[in-house]
Amino acid sequence: KKLAVFVSGGGSNFCSILEASLQGSIFGDIVVLVTNKRGCGGAEFAREKGIPVILSPRTKDEADGLSPTDLVAALRGFEVDFVLLAGYLKLIPAELIQAYPKSILNIHPSLLPAFGGKGYYGMKVHKAVIASGARFSGPTIHFVDEHYDTGRILAQRVVPVSPNDTPEDLAARVLQEEHRLYVEVVEAICEDRITWRQDGVPLIRRKE
Ligand code: GRF
Repeated sequence: KKLAVFVSGGGSNFCSILEASLQGSIFGDIVVLVTNKRGCGGAEFAREKGIPVILSPRTKDEADGLSPTDLVAALRGFEVDFVLLAGYLKLIPAELIQAYPKSILNIHPSLLPAFGGKGYYGMKVHKAVIASGARFSGPTIHFVDEHYDTGRILAQRVVPVSPNDTPEDLAARVLQEEHRLYVEVVEAICEDRITWRQDGVPLIRRKE
């Protein structure tokens, strides 16, 4: 399968998926990286690896990004099957969601539906988890709809919150688990191992 990864930041999830792909442990190739921040770590890393980088969508600070229509056309040009958001901080245009039904995933660093939605991003998520007194947190991978963090949940992993955790401690523990979980989920989508339950909940089938 052909994969597009969207990043705005450091791109550590992108790196772990790329590594799995290059090692042949997933049947997927990252054919393009999309970013709204030309100079972010993820984009730099993609360029080093010879992966094409495209800018999208048009934003205040990056005036030359693609329009949603051109972005969809570009992804079609690369014959993209799945779109993986990995620390991508912009809302996905409706046009892209309609063009790729049930094919866009996001990773969020809390157990959704808790601590999700606009305003819950980056360290703010982990601060809020610690302030709430929750004993567990962990990453969620969900299909993307037109709002922040509300699409159907596909996979989650539980990570303990320690009493003395700083937000940075918790972020690091969750991120480690994100890397494992995203690779497992990408492996499953590349092998067509998703079943949609009648009520609309997506499930991952085990490997035979
Ligand atoms: C991750 O915590 C992800 O859940 C969130 O942004 C962070 C991205 O990290 N949406 P990286 O850019 O993959 O290192």
